[in-house]
Amino acid sequence: MSLSKYSILCCLLVIITCKLNAQQLAWTEVEPGIWKAVAGKPEAFDLLKAAGAIPYHAGLVQMGDTSFPLSKTEITATMVDGKTYLCFPLDRTEQLYGFGLNFQTVHQRGRIMTLHVDNYAGKDDGHTHCPTPFYVSSKGYGVFINCARYIKVYAGTAVRVNSKTPPVVQDRNTDKNWNSHPYSDAVEMLVPAEGAEIYVFGGPTMMDAVRRYNLLNGGGCLPPRWGLGFTQRMQRLTDAAGVAAEAEAFEEKGYPLDFIGLEPGWQSKSYPCTFEWDKTRFPDPKALIRDMLKKGIRINLWTNPYVSPEAPVFPLIKPYAASYTVWNGAVVDISMPEAQKIFFGALSKNKVDIGVSGYKIDEVDGGDTYLWPDVAIFPSGHSAEQMRQTYGLMMQRYVTELYHERNQRTYGLVRASNGGGASFPYVIYNDYYNHRDFITALINSGFAGVLWTPEVRASKTAEEWLRRFQSNVFSPMAMINAWASGTKPWTFPEVAEQVKQMANLRMQMMPYWYSEFAKCHFQGIPPFRAMNLEPDFAGMEVPKKAPKKKVDLETDPYEDLSAGEIKDQYMAGENILVAPMFTGETSRTVILPKGKWYDFYTGKLVGDGQMITVTPGLDKIPVYVKDGGIIPMMPAMLHAPKAGQKVDIEVRYYGEKPGSYKLYDDDGETFNYEKGEYTFRDIKVEKVNGKIVGNISDAIAGKPNTVGKVTFKMMTD
Ligand code: GAL
Repeated sequence: MSLSKYSILCCLLVIITCKLNAQQLAWTEVEPGIWKAVAGKPEAFDLLKAAGAIPYHAGLVQMGDTSFPLSKTEITATMVDGKTYLCFPLDRTEQLYGFGLNFQTVHQRGRIMTLHVDNYAGKDDGHTHCPTPFYVSSKGYGVFINCARYIKVYAGTAVRVNSKTPPVVQDRNTDKNWNSHPYSDAVEMLVPAEGAEIYVFGGPTMMDAVRRYNLLNGGGCLPPRWGLGFTQRMQRLTDAAGVAAEAEAFEEKGYPLDFIGLEPGWQSKSYPCTFEWDKTRFPDPKALIRDMLKKGIRINLWTNPYVSPEAPVFPLIKPYAASYTVWNGAVVDISMPEAQKIFFGALSKNKVDIGVSGYKIDEVDGGDTYLWPDVAIFPSGHSAEQMRQTYGLMMQRYVTELYHERNQRTYGLVRASNGGGASFPYVIYNDYYNHRDFITALINSGFAGVLWTPEVRASKTAEEWLRRFQSNVFSPMAMINAWASGTKPWTFPEVAEQVKQMANLRMQMMPYWYSEFAKCHFQGIPPFRAMNLEPDFAGMEVPKKAPKKKVDLETDPYEDLSAGEIKDQYMAGENILVAPMFTGETSRTVILPKGKWYDFYTGKLVGDGQMITVTPGLDKIPVYVKDGGIIPMMPAMLHAPKAGQKVDIEVRYYGEKPGSYKLYDDDGETFNYEKGEYTFRDIKVEKVNGKIVGNISDAIAGKPNTVGKVTFKMMTD
């Protein structure tokens, strides 16, 4: 056969093979504005199943209908080599967000990642504590791949031969604009499985797509009120007397405290864990918990899930262990109902049973040097890879169930999560300690369906201590994690008073935080999120500095991927913009979305749709409020209000536009809200002849009502 005939035959073969494998995707609208397609043969065990996610249908219905946001024919799935290749269209001017909890980047177009549950190691390459296979586009839609595998993502990097908009061929010899990354018009993913479920979320805005994703997960979590107070994690070998002394010190010095975290030393042995109280350090845990609860302070317990051969539960759990150990501890196959009963029974007995308020679920993420390898065998038959992608999800799910069956809310910490986990009452943390990157993670958490805390551990200087503390107060969990350092809020006497003021502010803002979390539960709106999700932010993604050269959209659409990327300021709830200060800074720039913005502390107008430079001094973290913004506050208290306790509300009002706000109320501790035992009270405020006129809708008879006296405060003169 001649060479050219041979080539033609080869081409035909390739075309035929492609045709045979290519799959036409059929889209079904599974919830209003959410479509699902099945490519190939998806695996039975996936992210949504591992999480046990049940869509919050009522919330999705309330969002209403929208149209399918992409061209259906341009979404393709091809089966090659037992894997699924997915391709989604990407327009010239589209930016991408999401793909999990990234720490250094917000813009994801042009990135290649492998979405892999892992301990974050300083690089945004997909290896992270929550590598949610979900992205949103600036065009106002979202895509989620429901598969518990390491998914490889090419987010607009590869150039297909059959691209409808191929890049212009350039000559490197003569063209100084030649680009080593030619234009790509697709998001592609390689799913290492014979199929996958694909979800597309309609807009029209990015926020709508994010909300739909969260609501598909069941809506965001609603923490108990006490979860939104302050928490101190103790040095790892603290004993019962140390805990009592800590509680006393907080009270005596007047610092708020809602829960104390015990680190590994509460267990008789750890790494691997016995899940038993150490009898010397904690001779009577029941009495300790009871005494603490009387003071309004709860106890949270650290654990990792690796079972010591000396744990009383070990003989029972052994048949359900994987073929590899972690730190010499058994890795329980918690996907098996029999194993769940035994393992979570051990976490319940003498812990949840005696009033422990929650867990910190550690080391379910990685890294590879200590976790089970991908060649481990699990008795359920689920692969080590699937278990790695879902272990954090399942730990959260089954611990939450321990509390749910007692009709008691919990709020804890976890080091790994994934798609499907948005409704779990857990906050992600890690050992990485870069303050700036912690803020970027907070921004990305809103795209990943998780909560993240920029925890405070230790600091070299009083300035760093205060700066870290300030941003931590504007996050899902206000926490000092002193497991190694033994630090306290007052460790740096030079700033002890400022730290106290911030901790008090956290408590004062509880009615706001609580309402914002309720909006995440019922409406899917992430309480902490990127500026890019603000409706009046569109068009504000202006580069902070002029690009190096003129960007030619035809040849070079994303020459500078970071142009206009906002990584150091974020929205906290409906009305607040937070712009943290970092050690060594005395001033910073802040980009204000369109509309008037006011200083949180003074109520003064600071700008409108512009970049401002601020010099706040060491005492203040820059915080701004929207025009017409309402912040419901309560008096600073040392502990969160108890279930049903009435609290006075001061409604702070900023700016000049009439404002309205939905104040959420329920008992603060149980799941009775799931049965309708809650209210959203309408607050309305306006300025009439320079005077403030405000009102709050009446309490509803028969529903929880914790609102005491309501006063209105005009912040802007
Ligand atoms: C780490 C965890 C820390 C602390 C420590 C205790 O893995 O991230 O926050 O809990 O374990 O050994």
